[in-house]
Amino acid sequence: MSAPTAPVTDDALYEALSTVIDPEIRKPVTELGMVESVSVDEAGHVAVTILLTVSGCPMKDTLTKDTTVALAKVPGVNGVKVTLGVMSDEQRTTLRQQLRGGAPEREIPFAQPNSLTRVYAVASGKGGVGKSSVTVNLAAALAESGLRVGVVDADVYGFSVPRMLGVEHRPTQVDDMILPPVSHDVKVISIGMFVPGNQPVVWRGPMLHRALQQFLGDVFWGDLDVLLLDLPPGTGDIAISVAQLIPSAEILVVTTPQQAAAEVAERAGSIAIQTHQRIVGVIENMSWLELPDGTRQEIFGSGGGRAVAESLTRSVGAEVPLLGQVPLDTNLRECGDQGTPVVLRDPESPAAVSLRAIARGLGTRARGLAGRSLGLTPSGR
Ligand SMILES: Nc1ncnc2c1ncn2[C@@H]1O[C@H](COP(=O)(O)OP(=O)(O)OP(=O)(O)O)[C@@H](O)[C@H]1O
Ligand SMILES: [Mg+2]
Repeated sequence: MSAPTAPVTDDALYEALSTVIDPEIRKPVTELGMVESVSVDEAGHVAVTILLTVSGCPMKDTLTKDTTVALAKVPGVNGVKVTLGVMSDEQRTTLRQQLRGGAPEREIPFAQPNSLTRVYAVASGKGGVGKSSVTVNLAAALAESGLRVGVVDADVYGFSVPRMLGVEHRPTQVDDMILPPVSHDVKVISIGMFVPGNQPVVWRGPMLHRALQQFLGDVFWGDLDVLLLDLPPGTGDIAISVAQLIPSAEILVVTTPQQAAAEVAERAGSIAIQTHQRIVGVIENMSWLELPDGTRQEIFGSGGGRAVAESLTRSVGAEVPLLGQVPLDTNLRECGDQGTPVVLRDPESPAAVSLRAIARGLGTRARGLAGRSLGLTPSGR
């Protein structure tokens, strides 16, 4: 027999429900109009009805579990019954307007002059240098440090990002708004999520531009501290589109120590010069292999990253630092294949140590307008 307790109040139930966070929108269900009703009988049995944004919402089990756990913690509650309903069209419209904060549709929040999100476009001249690996590891490390992070996989031919981040389900669509899946606390959108089956994508410039615009405008990102864009290799259309759609995006150049790779990375950097985008710095990947005796074997040569940084510094006329060197590390590949970035799964492995240090540097850069390109063309060029 448990001691008699004071009757359970509605306030106590609402307070408990306000700790239930919608896994996709990442706000309390009480703020999203998702709690249709909640009541408790004399025996302490709670009946709650939660409205899903769409029927067949992939997160319904999580929501049911989280709601049950939260309500069961309220003193005096002896049982919880969760009923799931679905929002009406009207309720969805209200939610959508609320999430958009009254902003007109299709605007890219990151392109607004008052946006405080830092946008990093990860670029390289050559394929296979580790752009996607660097992107997902920086994203995971930044999210782990408490920042709100999103990733756009803008590589239409690759879409390796969802796999590397272990994203298992597709985005949920609420009318014309897309809710990105979240994995390791990172919101992820990839063009691969919109391709039925595994059809090869042969999209040309204008369609790519439109797809990117959609990713950035129709996806509900919420307030982000950092958005990382994994660009396709080369100096193609997408890089220009990024510059047009988000002029404040800054470029992170990834290269390998090979001089040949360095030359192409430099070409990627020259796009930034044309589009007046700032280059945050250069990351050299696959820098060396650490041998069991502690020596470093420089499989792909050495000096490429530094050479690119120095040459970009000269061509843009502003300091472009070498942000770090990431060694070859089988853990990095294995963790990527298994869907958990190495910075989370094996944070002390050589590549993870280097990537975490680079993320720390990026995460502590001031947010806001300082250092932004004004889009002016320097004279004499
Ligand atoms: N530092 C590293 N150590 C070991 N393996 C690595 C490292 N960096 C990347 N790899 C592996 O190299 C392969 C290519 O990396 P990744 O897919 O990240 O490159 P990418 O530049 O995005 O390629 P693409 O141009 O095809 O998009 C992957 O299998 C990845 O696991
Ligand atoms: Mg890639």
